[in-house]
This record gives sequence, C-alpha cells and structure tokens, in this order.
Amino acid sequence: MPGNYDSVMAVLPIRIFGDPVLRERGRPVTDFGPDLAALVDDMVETMYAASGAGLAAPQVGVLQRLFVYDVGEGPEVVCNPELSDFAGTWTYEEGCLSLPGVYVEIERPREVTCRFQDVDGNSREVRAEDLLGRVFQHETDHCDGVWFIDRADKEHRREALREFRQRFGDGTTQWLPDPSDGKRVRADVTL
Ligand code: NI
Repeated sequence: MPGNYDSVMAVLPIRIFGDPVLRERGRPVTDFGPDLAALVDDMVETMYAASGAGLAAPQVGVLQRLFVYDVGEGPEVVCNPELSDFAGTWTYEEGCLSLPGVYVEIERPREVTCRFQDVDGNSREVRAEDLLGRVFQHETDHCDGVWFIDRADKEHRREALREFRQRFGDGTTQWLPDPSDGKRVRADVTL
C-alpha cells in the first residue's frame, strides 16, 4: 500500500556496542524516496521511546550515513553529514543509546558547522554549539563507525569499558526501547 507509511511506524531494536555494525562506516544516502521517509519515522519513534536526544541509522542496524535528533525543538533529520570549522573545547558527560546507562566525560570542540542533506535531498548547513554541536559530532561518529568512548581520555575510557562489561558482558547485542518502562537513560545527555 504505497503512500501511507505513518500507519506502520515502529519502535526498532537498538544495537549495543559489540555488534559489528556499529564499527562500520555507513554508505551515503542516495535515495530520498518514501523508504527513507519511513526509516526516519521509525528512527524518530525509536529515539523517543528510548528517551534519547539522537539516534543514528547504524544503531538500528542500517548502514547508512544519517541520523535523527531532538534537542527540544522537535525532531530533525540529517543525511550525509560533513563536519568542519571546529572551534573551542567543551568537556561534557556523554551517554549513548548503544551503551544505555553508561556516561563518559569527553572533551570535544564546542562549535561545529554541519553540511548535510535533509530528508528530501536538499543541501543544508547549520552552525551549532553546545548540545547541538555535541549531537552533530556524536551522531556523525556513529555514521563513520566511531565509538564515542574512543574520544575519551585513557582513564575515562577504561572506566567506561569496565562498566560496559559489567552490564553487557553476557553478550547482549540489542535492546528494545519500551516507552512504558519509564526512562532508562538520562535524556539530556544520551545521544
Ligand atoms: Ni550514540
């Protein structure tokens, strides 16, 4: 039944670090048709169900360079992000929906320019700072197979890996967000 995708919006399982899909570089988005719109709808639904502020396609097992986010002004989608013009530094505690419940202090540039395409394929450019700048960097890393704790210093990385093994050392590779569970993560920092 082409044309009516809203009726099939679904919460998708989120891959947990250890799943190899999170270590691969995504393919560029080239098809800006209804399949992409449907994927974006599902990703937004999944991000809200999980109480995250951002979610990248590889986190739901789709190896494409796109992500969705909401920093308090409604859902947005970014396809084929390219970051440039980094400025400043900002140390901030980050979490990730692919490592639910683990938070790591990470220093990153405070400001960044993101060039990308919207869901219809139009070229866009946004200059971002603070949380939005952080979201752009964290989610673009997901699109490139980079794990956020790769960005942490040695001490914080070791601590995060220890927590990771405690929580998911049993080989768990995905979790299904359930909005009725209550909040599993800290929404303001989980990207
Ligand atoms: Ni993440």
